[in-house]
Amino acid sequence: MTNADKKPASSSPLRAIIVEDTPDDVALLLRALRRAGYAPEYQRVQTADELDAALHAGRWDVVLSDYTLPDFSGLMALHQVAAFDPDMPFIIVSGNIGEDVAVAAMKAGAHDYLIKGNLTRLGAAIERELREAGVRRARRRDEQALLHARLRLQALSNRMLEMQEAERRHIARELHDEIGQSLTAIKLNLEALTRRIGDERVRGLAAEIAGVAGQVLDQVRRLSLDLRPPQLDDLGLLAALQWLVKRHTRDDGPAIELVAPDDLPRLGGQAETACFRVAQEALTNVLRHAGATSVRIELKNEDGQFCLDVHDDGRGFDLAAARARALEGASLGLVGMNERVALAGGEIRLASRSGTGTHVRACFPLPAGAARP
Ligand SMILES: Nc1ncnc2c1ncn2[C@@H]1O[C@H](COP(=O)(O)OP(=O)(O)OP(=O)(O)O)[C@@H](O)[C@H]1O
Ligand SMILES: [Mg+2]
Repeated sequence: MTNADKKPASSSPLRAIIVEDTPDDVALLLRALRRAGYAPEYQRVQTADELDAALHAGRWDVVLSDYTLPDFSGLMALHQVAAFDPDMPFIIVSGNIGEDVAVAAMKAGAHDYLIKGNLTRLGAAIERELREAGVRRARRRDEQALLHARLRLQALSNRMLEMQEAERRHIARELHDEIGQSLTAIKLNLEALTRRIGDERVRGLAAEIAGVAGQVLDQVRRLSLDLRPPQLDDLGLLAALQWLVKRHTRDDGPAIELVAPDDLPRLGGQAETACFRVAQEALTNVLRHAGATSVRIELKNEDGQFCLDVHDDGRGFDLAAARARALEGASLGLVGMNERVALAGGEIRLASRSGTGTHVRACFPLPAGAARP
């Protein structure tokens, strides 16, 4: 029963659901609405089913609801409307039900409460609630847009990291297999040729060229391993970390210790790569910034999680200041660690203070059925 009332030229349209069992009270409400400058278009409902049908049938500005009805109640209507549209203004218009009940209704989410005998506030209450509903809806839209943007960014970031790893793997193999093999052939042939050259000066020159080919070969192999050590794909995280430690251990650098239980579980591709890259970045940071005398890289199983710890005894740093610099785009290492771990479903924590060294901890969920260390 939808009614369109006569609309004075100056009045504003208002689409209202009226939850009310008494026709006289509906008439009372409509009079008050018109007096307040509204041209109401309304639907009267008396049960949950009727309210449900009305909510789905059209777009509404406000719900005006009695508190007590024979087969329904204001509170039930309130929950139903809130579940349908949490931003819809809901005003209770009732006989005198007492202050405590009114307070309970407001606590349950009603936006205002008016007594049927005194509807002078009705226009102002509706105007205010329409305004506030507009603000709430705009905020919700902004939150949704923000959430979607964040999800898109996350997907993009995930994709970029996947592509970066795939590309590194490809270039590393290409360097090692194709260019590396060609350089090996050049070097070996040059060495064989050198042995046959009679002229001493020319032989010296050829030996020198073979030497340079050997150096380039070493550089290409190192570059290939730095891009992505094949251990990570073939033998697993521990072997890759052992290579990393060996690669960075120097007589004039800090002592690097790697501690891991004998039977490490395989974490699965993404988490294992993330774990390796975190260790790599953390160790690079120690060597570049910490001035440490020792570093300890530890893998362990804790509370059903797989954790990587990197401790150093270096000079430490101010985390808040580093984060602020990262926001300006000055450095990417710590940001990249966070991103990788989050995308692999893990958590990362950094603790550092000037003079006390740094602790990086990244934990990943163990895949179901993974053998535990
Ligand atoms: N283990 C550490 N000890 C001391 N300072 C550190 C350590 N790790 C990070 N830092 C500080 O935090 C800053 C940010 O580190 P981050 O890895 O993000 O950037 P970066 O190493 O300077 O550059 P890059 O983007 O190449 O990684 C560093 O510049 C350094 O000042
Ligand atoms: Mg760094």
